[in-house]
Amino acid sequence: MSSVLTLADIISKNWGLETVSDTPGLEVRWMLEDLLEKPASYLSSHSETELKPELFQQFEKMLARRITGEPLAYILGHCGFWSLDLKVSASTLIPRPETELLVELAIQLQFNHKNIQVLDLGTGTGAIALAIASERPSWQITATDQSREIIDVARSNALHNGIHRIHFQIGCWYQPLQGSGAAFDLIISNPPYIEPDDPHLGQGDVRFEPLSALVADNDGLADLQHIVMNAPQYLRSTGILMVEHGYQQGNSVRELFFAAGFTDVETQRDLAGHERVTLGRLKPPEK
Ligand SMILES: C[S@@+](CC[C@H](N)C(=O)[O-])C[C@H]1O[C@@H](n2cnc3c(N)ncnc32)[C@H](O)[C@@H]1O
Repeated sequence: MSSVLTLADIISKNWGLETVSDTPGLEVRWMLEDLLEKPASYLSSHSETELKPELFQQFEKMLARRITGEPLAYILGHCGFWSLDLKVSASTLIPRPETELLVELAIQLQFNHKNIQVLDLGTGTGAIALAIASERPSWQITATDQSREIIDVARSNALHNGIHRIHFQIGCWYQPLQGSGAAFDLIISNPPYIEPDDPHLGQGDVRFEPLSALVADNDGLADLQHIVMNAPQYLRSTGILMVEHGYQQGNSVRELFFAAGFTDVETQRDLAGHERVTLGRLKPPEK
């Protein structure tokens, strides 16, 4: 194909992305913004500028990957979450808009002392920890995940977003904290919760994401169970646990909270009306 297309030509052309995207035109714009390293306004103000041949070749490579269904976030190497721009890699989940509910609920919590300690288990890109840190600069946040590769992505996202106060640790769930005596006011997690034989794993974006970030045994509940049952050891006496889960797991997760001794257990729905986040307190604060 000729490489003398203007930005306006490229934006108005149908590139066949509608087979994989509900917003094909927007995706083309985002690819151009990244290739040109320019903001959205540049595309309008320079619509008659021709895209250089080497950049057009890169654009075609991006399109070819996207047509296979690979998520745009992996192609661009980053995505938006809350008010942050986050790097993603093949080892990390792409943060989801519904996970912003965890952040929204967390930053509304009131504590009756200073020195608030928060633990984000399975931090991935650092999405939840970094979003909370950006809103609550005085809270002390620890974030863990299972591999150095993942924690390196989270650390680089902290640097990129100018957030320097997060304590990152590597290991299986609570294991890095064992014997540390750490006690948290809030433990928050979006763990893997999809059943191993869920047919959705073979469709759409999730085909490209690491199974270790998505899938849990025991009908998707194994990691939730481990996190909930062990949380009391790592919470202050009035501490709160808050977890994201699948839309059909609300009942089972509430039962886990009660079995672990939590009170004030409630489930919040996401914007689509699905049960999405369950939280509970170890014991009510004294008045
Ligand atoms: C659903 S992803 C959530 C990532 C990120 N918190 C977010 O909301 O975008 C689950 C995360 O849990 C991590 N994880 C899975 N098993 C783990 C384990 N045994 N110990 C620690 N982290 C684990 C995965 O690596 C992944 O980053």
